[in-house]
Amino acid sequence: MRHFLSAADLTRDAALELFALAADLKQRRKSGRLGAPLAGKTFALIFEKASLRTRVTFEVGIIQLGGRAVHLVGREIGLGTRESVPDVARNLSLWVDGIMARVNSHATITGLARHASVPVINGLSDFEHPCQALADFFTLWERGIDFRAMRLAWIGDGNNVCHSIMILGALLGAEIVVACPPGYEPDAGVVATVRRGGGRLEVTEDARAAARGADVIYTDVWTSMGQEAEHEQRLEAFSRYQINETLVGFAKPSALVMHCLPAHRGEEITDAVLDGKQSIALQQSENRLHAQKAIMLRLLGGSLDDA
Ligand code: CP
Ligand code: NVA
Repeated sequence: MRHFLSAADLTRDAALELFALAADLKQRRKSGRLGAPLAGKTFALIFEKASLRTRVTFEVGIIQLGGRAVHLVGREIGLGTRESVPDVARNLSLWVDGIMARVNSHATITGLARHASVPVINGLSDFEHPCQALADFFTLWERGIDFRAMRLAWIGDGNNVCHSIMILGALLGAEIVVACPPGYEPDAGVVATVRRGGGRLEVTEDARAAARGADVIYTDVWTSMGQEAEHEQRLEAFSRYQINETLVGFAKPSALVMHCLPAHRGEEITDAVLDGKQSIALQQSENRLHAQKAIMLRLLGGSLDDA
């Protein structure tokens, strides 16, 4: 793997190896044995959109591994306007060892990767959020969950995070059920690819049917960044897809509730559920740090034995 642009860049074995590496990194960090496996390495972090978790976990992650981060705001460097995406990629490759970018259009991240001679990581595009999915399945793996016996219900928008969860979940052998209102389903091409690869994936309009018997219920905002003009229309379209105590009641009593955050509390999820004992949203958030350290180390070829 040269870049990490999509959850589909992983194989099942590669994902499981990354989970084990992330667990090791988390343990070493907690016991002060992390060392500096990326000493002298620098990452450029490009943001065309707002971020809390991705910004902080990448920057803190690279610092904890002994390297440095350079933070770049998309409109300040004029990505694709002041300078073409290929030219930005070629220039950054002269100075840094890796690029992480959060972009409006998925074509920007694939363009960066095509023209960069250093690894490129997708920190969210309009099509995928693979770092989120990696951290999320690491969070479930850490709890000893058997993916092949797990039913994950995605309830809400068939968006970027949904695509990465579908792809990685299916790759790991989980049963994925996606419940969306008509017109907000996941991309048909992603659905077809997941199914062609043998993934167990169902798409329905029925949120309760999706939640029934689920081990995990996952949701995300109904209005993603860049879709603010559609907010009112989306509130109406998604009104029957809220994760509240009634809907969680259809899942297994042991079910976990996941959210990538940020949450629009009172829209896609109630306070009672997000702050309730079944919610693991904060563990997901914490694990962004460790999962992304694993991916940076793997892509840059850093070894913990060097530490
Ligand atoms: N989940 C996530 O990527 O959060 P941010 O948008 O705050 O980075
Ligand atoms: N679907 C959301 C995820 C944010 C982490 C968005 O794209 O805004």
